[in-house]
Amino acid sequence: MRVAMIGSGYVGLVSAACFADFGHIVSCVDKDEAKAEALGRGEMPIFEPGLEELVADNAQAGRLSFTTDLVEAVRGADAVFIAVGTPSRRGDGHADLSYVYQAAREIAAALDGYAVVVTKSTVPVGTGDQVERIMRQARPQANFAVVSNPEFLREGAAISDFKRPDRIVIGVEDLQAREVMTELYRPLFLNAPPLLITTRRTAELIKYAGNAFLATKITFINEIADLCEKVGVNVQEVARGIGLDNRIGTKFLHAGPGYGGSCFPKDTLALIKTAKDHGTPMRVIETVVSVNDQRKKAMANKIIAACGGDVSGKTIALLGLTFKPNTDDMREAPSLAIIAALQEAGAKLRVYDPEGMRQAKTLVRDIDYATDAYGCAEGADALVIITEWDIFRALDLARIKQLLKTPLIVDLRNIYRSEEMRRRGFTYVSVGRSA
Ligand SMILES: NC(=O)c1ccc[n+]([C@@H]2O[C@H](COP(=O)([O-])OP(=O)(O)OC[C@H]3O[C@@H](n4cnc5c(N)ncnc54)[C@H](O)[C@@H]3O)[C@@H](O)[C@H]2O)c1
Repeated sequence: MRVAMIGSGYVGLVSAACFADFGHIVSCVDKDEAKAEALGRGEMPIFEPGLEELVADNAQAGRLSFTTDLVEAVRGADAVFIAVGTPSRRGDGHADLSYVYQAAREIAAALDGYAVVVTKSTVPVGTGDQVERIMRQARPQANFAVVSNPEFLREGAAISDFKRPDRIVIGVEDLQAREVMTELYRPLFLNAPPLLITTRRTAELIKYAGNAFLATKITFINEIADLCEKVGVNVQEVARGIGLDNRIGTKFLHAGPGYGGSCFPKDTLALIKTAKDHGTPMRVIETVVSVNDQRKKAMANKIIAACGGDVSGKTIALLGLTFKPNTDDMREAPSLAIIAALQEAGAKLRVYDPEGMRQAKTLVRDIDYATDAYGCAEGADALVIITEWDIFRALDLARIKQLLKTPLIVDLRNIYRSEEMRRRGFTYVSVGRSA
C-alpha cells in the first residue's frame, strides 16, 4: 500500500519506518526543510535505539523517502497519516490543533482519489469530526474518510512498541476505510495484538484516558513514597506488594522525581480542559497535575536538604537530564525544574547525559557539561541521579567516591541499594526509602 506520513517527528518517523518495514511504500513529509533534508541523508533528528538502521534499510530498499512536498506524497496514497505536534496551547492548556487543521487543509487540497486520512496525533475527542468538516469545506467533492488511530509507542522503545503493540485502536465508521486500516496493519496480526475497532470519538478518548491513568499511577506511588520516608518503610516493597495484585499490575509504580516528557504533561492538561468544557471536571486528574508539579520542586528541596540545607556556592553534579533513558527528548523533563530551583538556591551545576545534552544546551543556561559520569562527579559536593540510564546503574563507586568532594549521592530513581551504599561509605539519599 502507499502511505503518506505528514510530520516526521518522533511518532511520524518511527511509524513511517515501521510501515515501510512491513512492506508498504511510505513517503514521509515534514515542512521543516532542514529536517527533511537531513533525513534524506540518513541523519536522524532524534535519538531512538534502532531507528537509524531501520530508516537506512528501508530507504535503501526504496520503500521509505523523505520530502517537504506534501502534494507529491499525498498523490496516489491509500492512507495519509497526520502525525504533527499537538502541544499545549499557551494559557488554557487545551491541545493546540492548529498544526492538525493546517495539515488537514493541505491534504484536502492534494487528494486525487479515495484515501483514508488517519489522525495519529493525540487529539481531543471530536477533532476527527472537525478535520472532516474542514476537509469537506475545502474540497466538497473529494473522496476520503477520516479515521482515528492513536499511537501508544514509548520513546526509548518506540520501534518494538510499534511492532509489538499491546493493542491497536482504530476509530472508524466507514467500511472501506476499515478495510484499508486492517490491510495496513495486517503484517502485525501474526503476533495477534488485540485490534480494537471503535467509533472515532471513542478512539480519541482512549488515548487521553490511558495517559491520564498512567500519570495517576506514577503520582500515586510518589505520594506513597513520601509517606514511606516518614514511617520507615521501603516504597519498592510496597509497590511490589500491591503490583502483584493483577488488578493493579507492577508497571508504572516506580517512585521518582515525577512524570515529564512530551505526552503526559500536555495530555493531562488537555483532558482536564476537555472535561471542563463539557461540564464534567476531572478532579482526580487536576490533583495529579498539581501534585506532579509540586513534586519537581520538592525534589530540588530534597537535594538541598541532603546538602545540609544550603547549596549556595556548592557544586552539584547531575547525572541524567532527559525525562527517561534511551531518548534525547528533553520536553518537560523533571531535570529542568530541578536545575532551575538549584540555580535559584545558588548552586553551581555540572551535568552529564549520554544523549540529552544537545537539546539541554538550548533550554538551560549557566551549567557545565561533562563528557562522562566521572568527569561530572569530580570535586562535586553531591552527585544526583535524575535519569536512570543503564550506564549509571553500574558506576565504579570506589572511583566516584574518590572523585567527589563529599561522598553524598542523591538517587532520585532508587537504582542503588541503601545498605550497600552506606557500607561503601556514602551518605545516600533516595526516594521513599527511609533507611
Ligand atoms: N512522542 C511520543 O512519544 C508520542 C507518543 C504517542 C503519541 N504522540 C503524539 O503524536 C503527535 C506527534 O508527536 P511528536 O512527538 O512526534 O511531535 P514532534 O514535534 O516530534 O513532530 C511533529 C513534526 O510535524 C511537523 N509538522 C507540523 N506541521 C506540519 C505540516 N503541516 N506538514 C508537514 N509537517 C508538519 C513538524 O515540523 C515536526 O517535525 C502528538 O500529538 C503527540 O502527542 C507522541
